Amino acid sequence: MPSKDYFQISAQILAGLLCSRPLVSLYVHDPGLDEVRLAHRAGEFLPAGRRAELIEACGRGGLLLSRADHEAFVGHMSANLGPALFCSGLGQGEIAEILRRALKARIEAFFSRPLKPALDDLRRDLSTLVEYVQTEPGRMDALLRGLDREYGLANHSLNCLLIGLALCLAGGEKGLARPDIESLALGLALHDLGMALVPAFVSAKTGFLMPSDRDSLRRHVESGLNMLNRLEVSDRMVIDCVREHHERLDGSGYPRGLAAGDIGLAGRVCAVADSYCASISERPYKRPKDAHLAALALLGDGARYDPDLVRVLCLLADRGGGPFGAD
Ligand SMILES: [Fe+2]
Repeated sequence: MPSKDYFQISAQILAGLLCSRPLVSLYVHDPGLDEVRLAHRAGEFLPAGRRAELIEACGRGGLLLSRADHEAFVGHMSANLGPALFCSGLGQGEIAEILRRALKARIEAFFSRPLKPALDDLRRDLSTLVEYVQTEPGRMDALLRGLDREYGLANHSLNCLLIGLALCLAGGEKGLARPDIESLALGLALHDLGMALVPAFVSAKTGFLMPSDRDSLRRHVESGLNMLNRLEVSDRMVIDCVREHHERLDGSGYPRGLAAGDIGLAGRVCAVADSYCASISERPYKRPKDAHLAALALLGDGARYDPDLVRVLCLLADRGGGPFGAD
């Protein structure tokens, strides 16, 4: 058996690597000598004969990547998500890193060019994510463990996606069917898409906000809905996340001041995830809040946030997974 410094790859992953100059070094395990040797060095030209040898080695289960090439293989696999998630040689922590990197790249690509092709790419990777975590809900812990607390639109969107999805799965999925969970995931990822249109001198402001700044910030909800409309996104869950994530159960939220009974499940999940993620993230004007304290603060605000969802958030915190264990 090769050491833990290496892991076996499938034919699907190899297929994605086999260009004229593979970006990741490939190794072969010789079972007779029980040793690993370098079969092809990253960046070098791959002749046809060696290509056939690599395919043959892969077919007998003896083609490996080195964990020392972590950065290169995570980068490659995050662009080829489907095969990577079902590569048996990778640990949950490695797969979680690949998933987070892939999803952040998809979200960034969409925000920088919010058109249908980028939306379709994001939908496809979110579907893969939902399949992965629904198969074994414990996988969510590894995903939550590496949340990036540095504030930025893509980081915040990814954090909300993962926290909101964790709330949904830990709360028994609230009777949602798989397509609804995928729509909720997309809504969580895109809830703040209108912020991409808020001028940077307003969204990055660290000092006193003028009334006009507040108006500009609040308009991100309407801008987001307009963007969804232009993209012909009609999923109820996605629209509710964008429209209702700043509504509060006591009617104190915006833009419509909806009361509890008028705020949908997606809006309530997104409100908890959005506020929690904002609280634990670092901003130029504030330090990130301790993860447990951030969850408890929402628990003490039961008039505004769904208490059932916040209790699930606290249970996740007590379980010690994700950002909860990182303080
Ligand atoms: Fe928002």
